[in-house]
Amino acid sequence: MLTNSKTNIQTFKALVVEETSEGKYNAAVKDKLITDLPQGELLIKVLFSGLNYKDALSASGYKGITRRYPHTPGIDAAGVVVDSENSDFSPGDEVVVTGYDLGMNTSGGFAEYIRVPAKWAVQKPVNLSLKECMIVGTSGFTAASAVYEFIKHGIQPQSGKILVTGASGAVGSMAVAMLAGAGYRVIASSGKTGATTFLKELGAEEVIGRDEVDDLSERPLLPPRWIAALDTVGGNTLSTVIRSTAERGIVANCGMLASNKLDVSVFPFILRAIRLVGIASAETAMSRRLEIWNLISGKIKPSTFDKIHRIIPLHEVPGALRLMLNSSVSGKIVVEL
Ligand SMILES: NC(=O)c1ccc[n+]([C@@H]2O[C@H](COP(=O)([O-])OP(=O)(O)OC[C@H]3O[C@@H](n4cnc5c(N)ncnc54)[C@H](OP(=O)(O)O)[C@@H]3O)[C@@H](O)[C@H]2O)c1
Repeated sequence: MLTNSKTNIQTFKALVVEETSEGKYNAAVKDKLITDLPQGELLIKVLFSGLNYKDALSASGYKGITRRYPHTPGIDAAGVVVDSENSDFSPGDEVVVTGYDLGMNTSGGFAEYIRVPAKWAVQKPVNLSLKECMIVGTSGFTAASAVYEFIKHGIQPQSGKILVTGASGAVGSMAVAMLAGAGYRVIASSGKTGATTFLKELGAEEVIGRDEVDDLSERPLLPPRWIAALDTVGGNTLSTVIRSTAERGIVANCGMLASNKLDVSVFPFILRAIRLVGIASAETAMSRRLEIWNLISGKIKPSTFDKIHRIIPLHEVPGALRLMLNSSVSGKIVVEL
């Protein structure tokens, strides 16, 4: 049945990032008109959002993410459908939107309302609350996309250890929690000495420094240390990770916190049959997206959600995004609208 009840909502609160005449970017909570929202089949009352590195870039004027300002960032949102012009969704449905263009050049989740195409939304998985979906958000979905690849590759808890780099960050900490929760033995690499307790609480068996995954010897192969790895860092870290992966292992890369370059010989591929897989979570096809949410709400659902996140109100988002740009954030920051 097609549902399109008319709402009486006129204005709503949203974080608005504006470009100043000096080329700076200021973010503040403002009232926006509901008519300011873009076209879309679903009007959603947002109850929770979550912070991602892309939001920090969008809020600081990085044109590779957001071309035009004023803009409301927030690549994740979870809430309740208010108006629907699509027969798959009805008012009252609890839905989750992560990725696609939300928060990039489409008004995003740091707001009480979003309007999006129906094909961007998934019904909230039964075993997760809306808040838990936003603890997961794009970062957890990205971590889970890597775990999905590991499982498809045949990696089981007894196959060997799994490395996670940038482990105290949003993607990394979620990966540690998901893998450890599913019985995998996790090595967490972190540049923060203070993050060891946090990472062990999430289930990491071993915590190593960033320098241990930054080999400068240029040796084409290093002693094998793990059977699978999720790398968020890129550059020489990714090169080291690949060269240290055991035979027939798998490496997933999703980020470039250190560098977008990769300098590695073909020897890990032709002598150890290592598989390198890229993770691009934003555009994940719907059938695969549902499989990954199914995994998140079942087999790899972390039991440590409470340890991994903290909740902030909308007006604290700008400060938290600045901390994120300085890599000073551990775990996941969830925004309650
Ligand atoms: N491809 C995708 O679909 C996708 C989706 C989401 C995110 N990403 C990317 O994944 C990366 C991580 O995102 P995030 O949300 O987890 O970010 P985050 O919360 O800011 O965490 C990043 C973590 O990486 C480590 N780190 C930062 N700078 C580093 C450097 N120069 N060298 C080595 N480690 C460094 C730090 O952890 P430690 O101190 O513990 O080392 C930091 O906490 C970003 O590049 C992001 O754009 C990609």
